[in-house]
Parts: sequence; structure tokens; C-alpha cells
Amino acid sequence: MKILVIGAGGREYSIGMALKKDDNVEKLYFAPGNGATDELGENLTISDFNELADFCEENSIDLTIVGPEAPLVDGIVDLFESRGLTIFGPTASAAQLEGSKIFMKNFLARHNVPTAKYIETNSIEEAYKFINSLEAPIVVKADGLCGGKGVIIAQSHDEAKKAAGDMLSGNSFGDAGTSIVVEEFLDGYELSVFAICDGEDYVVLPAAQDHKRLLNNDEGPNTGGMGAYAPTPLVNDDIYRKLEDKVINPTLKGMKEEGNPFKGVLFIGVMVVDGEPIILEYNVRFGDPECEELMPLLKSPASELFYKASTGNLKDIEIEFYDKYAVGVVMASRDYPYKSSEPAEIIIDDIVHDDVQENSHISFAGVSRGDDGKLYATGGRVLVCVGLGDSIAEAQSRAYMLVGQVHFAGKHCRTDIAYQAL
Ligand code: AMP
Ligand code: GLY
Repeated sequence: MKILVIGAGGREYSIGMALKKDDNVEKLYFAPGNGATDELGENLTISDFNELADFCEENSIDLTIVGPEAPLVDGIVDLFESRGLTIFGPTASAAQLEGSKIFMKNFLARHNVPTAKYIETNSIEEAYKFINSLEAPIVVKADGLCGGKGVIIAQSHDEAKKAAGDMLSGNSFGDAGTSIVVEEFLDGYELSVFAICDGEDYVVLPAAQDHKRLLNNDEGPNTGGMGAYAPTPLVNDDIYRKLEDKVINPTLKGMKEEGNPFKGVLFIGVMVVDGEPIILEYNVRFGDPECEELMPLLKSPASELFYKASTGNLKDIEIEFYDKYAVGVVMASRDYPYKSSEPAEIIIDDIVHDDVQENSHISFAGVSRGDDGKLYATGGRVLVCVGLGDSIAEAQSRAYMLVGQVHFAGKHCRTDIAYQAL
């Protein structure tokens, strides 16, 4: 097969790695890719959806896999499908599960999927009234996509009212905040659960846990994610069963009934409160950095999983995972997540321990190839060091041994990834 991967991050690099080792895959393309994906395949500089579809037709691409949410919300799947091309991801209308928090919350309510008590409103009076009815902390969310920054966890009623006022007046997030969701705070532990869906059937991947805060012990500002591990022992069969019965099945059934069959990755942001999975949010794509740990755990051919999902054929698929753990540590650039940093050359020492050599790898993200052929850190999250092992502790130690071999000016990472499982 010839496969095109849309995106430029570590997520797309890890999808590329999984496809690279798959015997069914003959050639890989990335659009736009990053400075390291050119070692897995060919980077394309095309971004216009029509031009990408032209490329796929002219080059007999069998499958396109979309990494990030923006092209999905902007309708890349609709366009490709209208041209008869096979593509993995939801239509723009189904991508509203991520693109609009209000769509998502109202959908969950219509289908009795457990979620935090909430209102959606564009009225400041209504927002104040609901805020007064809740106990602090209180969560205030802007409706649209805000690059993960549209959520305020207010520690007091006054702070919640100020956040609501700022969003509704358009001061905080422009149009993305002209409607808001106010909801109760859920106190529990968070999971990232991914279901690969074909519109009707699905495959659930091992549950992961992300580390969204910049600093150890979950302190500091929120980021896109500073590391993750999977599978997490914080999930048991009972929680998986509840997720299937109360969340995934009603969601796929509801989306289909409403004329919006969901195909692609359903990323379920779960808070487990007293043993009950409660939905915080849906995303319509893989988590980053969760994808970087899940892809290496996939034993079955990745091309088969994504192709069958794209063509409505997951019903009888048998997907196998390695009986191992993966821990991924994000190495970020100097000023992440505040501002962009000066490019810095990346130097990776030779790895002399066979054990680390065989059980760890780097998933490259914010990197560019210089004219000198060297790799430079040019993005916020530069790369992810992934370790695999028979236990979380072993996978973690290998990931951190690899971290020790990677150098660039200003590099920083958390030193406690997977701590909740140890
Ligand atoms: P979201 O973009 O909705 O996933 O929110 C970003 C992060 O805010 C989540 O990953 C949670 O850590 C936190 N969060 C969102 N909603 C809630 C809630 N109702 N209760 C507690 N934490 C929340
Ligand atoms: N790591 C969380 C996300 O991709 O949204």
C-alpha cells in the first residue's frame, strides 16, 4: 500500500514508524511532515486539500491518515470522500465532537453518556446563576478550538465569573468564546482512552495516561502533554466494560442515528470518579504524546487497522497488542509552552547498551532539517523518548536512559512520567 499521513508532529512520526515496519506498506508520504519524517518516507509541501487529493489520485495513494484535528474540522475527509479516496478520520460534521464543546456536551446529554453537570450559554446572567449554584472549583470552557487553552479551572466563584465574562465578551478567545460551557469540577484521575471506529464497530486500544502539566507532580501550566504511558494499571475490566457500555456504544449508535456516523479515532478524555468513568471531552484524533506510546504496542499491522476502519470493515478484525508497557517522555525546547525558542542543534549520543538500543526509540516532533543536514529543535515539543518494557518501571527507566543521550540547548523534560502507576 501507499499511504499518506497528514500532520507534522510526534504523533504522525509514530504512526509513520508503525507503518514503516508493516510489510503491507510500500511507500509513505507525509504532508507536511517534519525534519525527521523524511527518513521514514517523503515529505510533501502541499497543504491545499484539493491539491492533496490530486496528489493521491495521481500517485495511486491507497489510504490517507489524518493526524491533527484542524484539517478534520475543516472538512478534509468530506473532500477526499467526495472524490472517492480512502481516508481515515471523521467528516467535518462528526468532528464537531471535538470542534464544538457545546455540540459534544449536548450530544452526551441526548444519549445519556455520563458527563459533568453543565450549562451552555451565551448569557452572562445565566452563567452567573449557574456558577452560584456550584461549589468551587468551577470549570469554564470556551466553545471552539483554542489549541487546548480554552479551559479555565476557577478556584473561586469570582474567578469563574471573571473567566466567563472575559470569554463571552470575546476578550479571551475571540469568536471561539462567544458561547461557553460552565460545568462542575470532577475530582478523580484522568485517563486517555482511544477507540478506532469505522462508523459502527470499533477497537479499543490500551488505556493511557497523559501528563498535561509542565512540571513534576503535575504542577505548573497546562501543556499539550509532557509525557504519557500505556497501558495504565488504573483501569480494570470493570472500567473498560463501563466505557464500552455507557460511552463508546451509545456514542457510535447516536452518531449514526443522527446521520453522522463516526469514523476515525474517538479519543475519550475520562475522569474516573469513585470507579465510574465520566466523560470530560471527546477529541477526534489521537492524543499527542499518547499515540507515541500506543503505536509501538500495536502488534497487528497498522495499515490493516486504519484501512479497515476507513472502509467500514472492523467488525471481525482481530487486533493484537504486545504484552508490554510503553513510557514516553517529551523533551521540550527552552521556552515551551510560553513562546517559541531559538533553533538548537540536536545531538544524540551513540547508545551503547543493547538493552536500551533494542527497547527504546525517539519519536521526532518539533524538528527541522538544516541546510547542513543536521537536525534542529525548532518546535515547542521537540521529541519524545519512548521506552518499552515488561513493567512500567522498566519502560520508564529505558525512556530516561534514552533522554540522557539526547542533547540540545535549553532542553527540558519532566522526570516523573508514569509516577501515578509506580
Ligand atoms: P478539556 O480541553 O475539556 O479536556 O480540558 C482540559 C483539561 O482540563 C482536562 O484534561 C482536565 O484535566 C481539566 N478538566 C476539564 N474539565 C474538567 C472538569 N469538569 N473537572 C475537572 N477537570 C477538568
Ligand atoms: N495529549 C492530549 C491531547 O493530545 O490532546
